[in-house]
Formats: sequence, C-alpha cells, structure tokens
Amino acid sequence: MAYETIIVEVEDHVATIKLNRPDALNALNSHLLGELSVALADCDKNEKVRCIIITGSAKAFAAGADIKEMSDKSYVDMFMSDFFGGEGNAIISTRKPIIAAVAGYALGGGCELAMMCDFIIAADTAKFGQPEINLGVMPGLGGTQRLTRYVGKSKAMEMNLTGRFMDAEEAERAGLVSRVVPAKSLMDEVQSTAQKIAEKSLMSSIAVKEAVNRAYETPLSEGLLYERRLFHAMFNTEDQKEGMAAFMEKRTAQFRDR
Ligand code: CAA
Repeated sequence: MAYETIIVEVEDHVATIKLNRPDALNALNSHLLGELSVALADCDKNEKVRCIIITGSAKAFAAGADIKEMSDKSYVDMFMSDFFGGEGNAIISTRKPIIAAVAGYALGGGCELAMMCDFIIAADTAKFGQPEINLGVMPGLGGTQRLTRYVGKSKAMEMNLTGRFMDAEEAERAGLVSRVVPAKSLMDEVQSTAQKIAEKSLMSSIAVKEAVNRAYETPLSEGLLYERRLFHAMFNTEDQKEGMAAFMEKRTAQFRDR
C-alpha cells in the first residue's frame, strides 16, 4: 500500500517504518497515526515480518502531536472522536515486537509513541520530553502514565510539570531507553538487534512481549502464574523441541513458528 506520511520497507524479516513528515518534524497528525495503525496491522499479518522498527529522521523521531491540527478543536470534537484513542489502541495491540529507534526530538506524542513500542534504542542526540504543559494542556497518549512506569514518579512528575527535555544519557540512566548509541550507527545497531529478534521463534517473541507487558497490568503473583503457564504451553511446540535439540547437538536452531 502507498502511504503519504510514512515509508515502510521490509528486508530480511524486519519491517522498518519511517515517520515521514520532515517539514513538521514528524508531528503526529491523525493521518499519520492512521497510516501507522494500518502499517502495523499489515506487519502483524505479513508472514515475512518477524520484528518491526519505528524510526524518524536525524532531527526528530517526532516532535509531538500536530499542534496545528489540534489548535481549533473543542472538547466536544476531542471527546466525540476519542482523539488518538483508536490509533493508540491499534499501536499497542500489535503482536510482533516493535523497537523505537530514536534520534533527535521525541517530544509529547513522539515520546509517548516511543514508549508504546516494546523498547527504545536512542542515538546520543535524542531528547525526550512531555512539553504539553507549555501549550496549556497535558499529555494525552500516555505521558503521565507510561513515563511514570518507566522512570518513576519523581522524574515523570518533574518532566510533565516543567516540560523540560531529558537527554539520551539521562534517559538511559532513568531506564527510559535500553541503550544509547552514536547517532551515526543508530540504524545499524537497531537493525542488528531486530535481526537477532527475527531469528527467534516468533511464538516465543510474542509470548515474551505479552508476558512482559503483563508485568504492568497485574500483581506479581498473577504475572508469575501467567508467565509459568505460557512457559508450560511452549512444551507443546515444535520450536521447543528444535531449540533444545539444537543446543544439545551444538548447532543453530531452525525455528518454524510451530
Ligand atoms: N506540531 C505541528 N508542527 C510542528 C510541531 C508540532 N508538534 N513541532 C514542530 N512543528 C513544525 C513547526 O511549526 C515548524 O513548521 P514551520 O516551518 O511551518 O513553522 C517546523 O515543524 C520546524 O519546527 P521549528 O521551526 O519549531 O524547529 P526548531 O528546531 O526551532 O524547534 C522543537 C524544534 C523544539 C521540537 C519545536 O519545534 C517544538 O517545540 N515543537 C513542539 C513540541 C511540542 O510541544 N510537542 C507536544 C505537542 S502536544 C502533544 O503531543 C499532545 C499529546 O500528548 C498527544
């Protein structure tokens, strides 16, 4: 499918979705988020795709929700369209693993989109922030909720109340990003990480994603039980037999997602 605001490429079982509104620093308007939702659903259906990367440009992953699109809207407009509700749900319901490759600004909805991915690898140029407070509003796509879970109350509260930006080093220290790499090698590093994930059994990847996400939603005892039952269920798969046989035979496993 031809998209106007994103570019999608699939190579070696990895789909790379590049946000592509350079004149607006990849500001997230409804059209872009709609296209992103469709592209992610397509990736889930496409058997060639085993891992997904969402990225932006060197200057901006995304500088937030599109302020120009929102500025004239009323409460009724926002409420009745459940602004960003459907798109947000579409992104988080993607089953395959998604890596956010962030360089430059990841602000407002941009930071929130990165946090909706399964993990973030940041260039040393990355800047994260929830500056909505400067616009007389507040985050609407997870900035008060996911950021608090990632970095804890104190830092999330400060970021949301002041709108200050966090650089990549601070973001790594705070646990917002899994790793910081030099900007020039960001895409190589992310591609090679995605490649490693793509080589695993997709059943294992999807189950790991579901189980880690459960850690946010359930008490520890329920999360541990959910994990254990998924682990037990894997003993009914060919990939478990293949993975363990390959270990014992000292060879590389050939997973078939069965
Ligand atoms: N929405 C719409 N357009 C945006 C945008 C946004 N969030 N961010 C940048 N742009 C546009 C600018 O208007 C400008 O367009 P024009 O050339 O037509 O004027 C173009 O992108 C380049 O931006 P700047 O000239 O401002 O670039 P800069 O390098 O001087 O500054 C910046 C970069 C600090 C990121 C600055 O653009 C900025 O502060 N952007 C807004 C950040 C923000 O407030 N984000 C939160 C949005 S609200 C939100 O996200 C709600 C939510 O939770 C869902």
